[in-house]
Amino acid sequence: MASNSKPRITPDQLRSARWFGPADLRSFGHRSRAMQMGYAEEDWKGKPVIGILNTWSDINPCHQHFRVRAEEVKRGVWQAGGFPLEIPALALPENYMKPTTMLYRNMLAMEAEEIIRCHPLDGVVLMGGCDKTTPGLLMGAISAGLPAIYMPAGAMLRGYWNGHTLGSGSDSWKFWDELRAGNITEADWQGVEGGIARSWGTCMTMGTASTMMSATEALGMALPGSSSIPAPDSAHARMATACGRRIVAMVWEDMRPTDIVTEASVENAVRAVIATGGSTNAMIHMLAIARRAGVPLDLERFDALSRTTPYLVNLRPAGKYLMEDFYYAGGLRAMLAAMAPLLRLDAMTAAGVTLGEAIKGAKILNPDVIATLDKPLKPEGGLALLRGNLCPDGAVIKHAAADPRLHVHTGPAVVFSDYNDMARRIDDPGLDVTADSVLVLQSAGPIGGPGMPEWGMLPLPKKLLRQGVRDMVRISDARMSGTSYGTCVLHVSPESAVGGPLALVKTGDTITLDVPSRRLTLNISDAEMAGRRAAWVAPKPHYARGFGLLHSREVTQAHEGCDYRVLEGTAPTPEPEIH
Ligand code: FES
Repeated sequence: MASNSKPRITPDQLRSARWFGPADLRSFGHRSRAMQMGYAEEDWKGKPVIGILNTWSDINPCHQHFRVRAEEVKRGVWQAGGFPLEIPALALPENYMKPTTMLYRNMLAMEAEEIIRCHPLDGVVLMGGCDKTTPGLLMGAISAGLPAIYMPAGAMLRGYWNGHTLGSGSDSWKFWDELRAGNITEADWQGVEGGIARSWGTCMTMGTASTMMSATEALGMALPGSSSIPAPDSAHARMATACGRRIVAMVWEDMRPTDIVTEASVENAVRAVIATGGSTNAMIHMLAIARRAGVPLDLERFDALSRTTPYLVNLRPAGKYLMEDFYYAGGLRAMLAAMAPLLRLDAMTAAGVTLGEAIKGAKILNPDVIATLDKPLKPEGGLALLRGNLCPDGAVIKHAAADPRLHVHTGPAVVFSDYNDMARRIDDPGLDVTADSVLVLQSAGPIGGPGMPEWGMLPLPKKLLRQGVRDMVRISDARMSGTSYGTCVLHVSPESAVGGPLALVKTGDTITLDVPSRRLTLNISDAEMAGRRAAWVAPKPHYARGFGLLHSREVTQAHEGCDYRVLEGTAPTPEPEIH
């Protein structure tokens, strides 16, 4: 097995030895308190101390197996001669936290970084999966800088109801529209409710969770093959134990996140996002992750990689299958092997081998699920960066999941000033809206949301649903769930709450979307735009104190990754003094 070129470290060079080693009063305290927990010197002396950052909670259904998995990670740590210590971290349950988990991604990133820094740890296993947990843990671990490996939660089993295979999110929206259109009954809807989430694990469409787990494996921060294993599979438990063994070796090899997260590996991760037809959220998270490692990445690079990376994986919401099918078809390793000519194969992985070695021999077992470069599902990726006077700093669209009829479209705007305004009026029979209208939602960005909620797939007006309309152009500074679909222009930057042009759109203005030309245009003159800007009044801030105020002051815009300014970059943070 190839390994990191850095010299191995010795037991007395372990970081934890500063806590446990010295013959002084402070270390006496550390040792005696370890004994209080039932450990003896044989447990820690000369051994890497491995923190297991566990995002389990009773209110995160996607991580319900993490209590058991943490024990399986510990088994691996013990097997390899390490000393495991499980430490809880913010669970970020995607569909319970309000207004949105994105408001708290950076809180987890801060928490992870400081947990790692302040404790006597030599390396960490990052247990995550539900959408924001993956970027949050990675961002924190990269900034903390200790050896780290990511253990993906894995996706739940396929959903099932009445002969239908159900996909997380996607089929909720689909059947909700059918209910509103009067095509299914309340009893049908309840059947969908009971069948759409059948086991622990993350959403099993290629939503944000599956996208970010796959991206993290392609980035090299997870074991090869780990991200595709379904959460309830016994292989998942064995993978958890393998993570425990491997992190101990990584400590001895002194293999740090910055040895793995490089320009080459970030590019591999972005290409993986595109080839899987992954979530638009990945664009924000990958920018933030790359910036933590000092790797330059911007939306232009994302767009360039999208134009040169084919869409290969036939998974919902853009395709047909689910994560369980992806696993049986060979999983991410098979997809990466199929696109090997596009990848930087010399990038290092947490397994201690290069990406090229990690994917060697992987085969596609079902070509209907995973396509090849010579016969891709689509020759280009499904994510595009848009520019224009409505989004000077960019906006994104997942055109692979949009009706191709609407890729080039001009229509009159119907503007909603915020989410509540939209909720109040969208189903009003008197709303002046047609299938050609462009629905515009303001005040849904990083500050305006706050936290940039996943409101970007605006619901279609009920009266149009009843006419059979199933897609319209929608524009907002919000994000959209990775399980969503439709012609939704997202992440408009700068956002409306800071006076971006989105704030200046009025009902009746015409807007032109042109995906092939990557343009989004508000069809008013520059003079008119300048006049409206001069008259614009900033909205009242959401927060006068607390974390929300900190967020509002520090958060960057979508095209910058929505990290906090104070957390970005690679400036060194001193190790804690031990007194
Ligand atoms: Fe946890 Fe979708 S709700 S991954």
